[in-house]
Amino acid sequence: MLSSFCIQAVFLLMCFGLATHAIEGNETYRLALLDFKAKITEDPLGIMRSWNESVHFCQWSGVTCGRQHQKVTVLDLHSQQLVGLISPHIGNLSFIRVLLLQNNSFNGEIPQEVGRLGRLETLRLDSNSLDGEIPSNISSCSNLISLTIGFNSVVGKLPEELGSLSMLQFLAVQRNNLSGSIPPFGNLSSLGKFSATQNNLVGSILDGLGLLKNLSYIALG
Ligand SMILES: *[C@@H]1O[C@H](CO)[C@@H](O)[C@H](O)[C@H]1NC(C)=O
Ligand SMILES: *[C@@H]1O[C@H](CO)[C@@H](O)[C@H](O)[C@H]1NC(C)=O
Ligand SMILES: *[C@@H]1O[C@H](CO)[C@@H](O)[C@H](O)[C@H]1NC(C)=O
Ligand SMILES: *[C@@H]1O[C@H](CO)[C@@H](O)[C@H](O)[C@H]1NC(C)=O
Ligand SMILES: *[C@@H]1O[C@H](CO)[C@@H](O)[C@H](O)[C@H]1NC(C)=O
Ligand SMILES: *[C@@H]1O[C@H](CO)[C@@H](O)[C@H](O)[C@H]1NC(C)=O
Ligand SMILES: *[C@@H]1O[C@H](CO)[C@@H](O)[C@H](O)[C@H]1NC(C)=O
Ligand SMILES: *[C@@H]1O[C@H](CO)[C@@H](O)[C@H](O)[C@H]1NC(C)=O
Repeated sequence: MLSSFCIQAVFLLMCFGLATHAIEGNETYRLALLDFKAKITEDPLGIMRSWNESVHFCQWSGVTCGRQHQKVTVLDLHSQQLVGLISPHIGNLSFIRVLLLQNNSFNGEIPQEVGRLGRLETLRLDSNSLDGEIPSNISSCSNLISLTIGFNSVVGKLPEELGSLSMLQFLAVQRNNLSGSIPPFGNLSSLGKFSATQNNLVGSILDGLGLLKNLSYIALG
């Protein structure tokens, strides 16, 4: 009697668990987005209000999921006057292709965990208040096509590792406080536009960049 009740209870729990999973999709993404929200300290336009439990996270403002699976593929929160840190949980959105956070007031460092986003094609962080160094881990985003970090307060060197981003077409890091020399970027064979003005970058640039066959626009100094 008791054991049969237990079996039924376990069965019910399993069904409930499966149902919850079907409704909520991948819990990992939900938790990642909730942590992202938790690190936002000011939201004057109230965009994050829609990020609540009454609707599925695929319906939250700025979130786009893939058609078949509940995997976040786009997070677009640009120009929302948001203030706060960028949560390291962002690294758990493993299917994200487009991450647009430009023109806000995100501060603190760019989390190293972005390096876990192997499907990321567009990463826009420009026009925020980010500081710290550019994580060399971004070089693990091997599908990156566009990387913009301009108009922040990042310091240190341009990581040499970025030179392995063979798909990268657009790289903009202008108006920061980067220093040191431009690394050998000869492998950035897709690079069409590179902007690095208003930093403290020094040294010979043509060494690496001269090899880039697709380069049509370059702004340095
Ligand atoms: C939750 O989000 C929905 C839209 O997604 C919105 O209509 C509703 O007002 C929100 N609830 C709260 C408590 O903010
Ligand atoms: C930046 O964001 C502000 C506030 O949302 C908006 O008014 C402005 O048009 C945006 N600028 C650009 C270049 O997108
Ligand atoms: C998500 O990312 C954070 C920070 O990188 C990590 O601590 C956490 O264990 C990850 N996994 C899940 C399932 O939330
Ligand atoms: C949920 O997402 C994590 C991180 O991408 C992945 O490892 C895991 O397999 C996913 N689980 C399901 C059931 O899709
Ligand atoms: C840096 O990127 C590597 C490769 O994707 C990853 O294994 C590692 O977890 C990342 N570091 C952090 C702190 O997320
Ligand atoms: C450039 O490519 C060559 C050949 O694939 C490789 O040996 C070298 O390590 C790469 N350099 C960088 C900076 O990624
Ligand atoms: C930029 O860096 C220099 C030297 O590293 C430092 O003296 C200066 O205060 C920095 N400027 C900003 C705006 O962070
Ligand atoms: C070369 O760069 C341009 C942008 O300036 C881009 O549209 C094009 O796709 C790039 N070509 C290759 C082969 O990557």
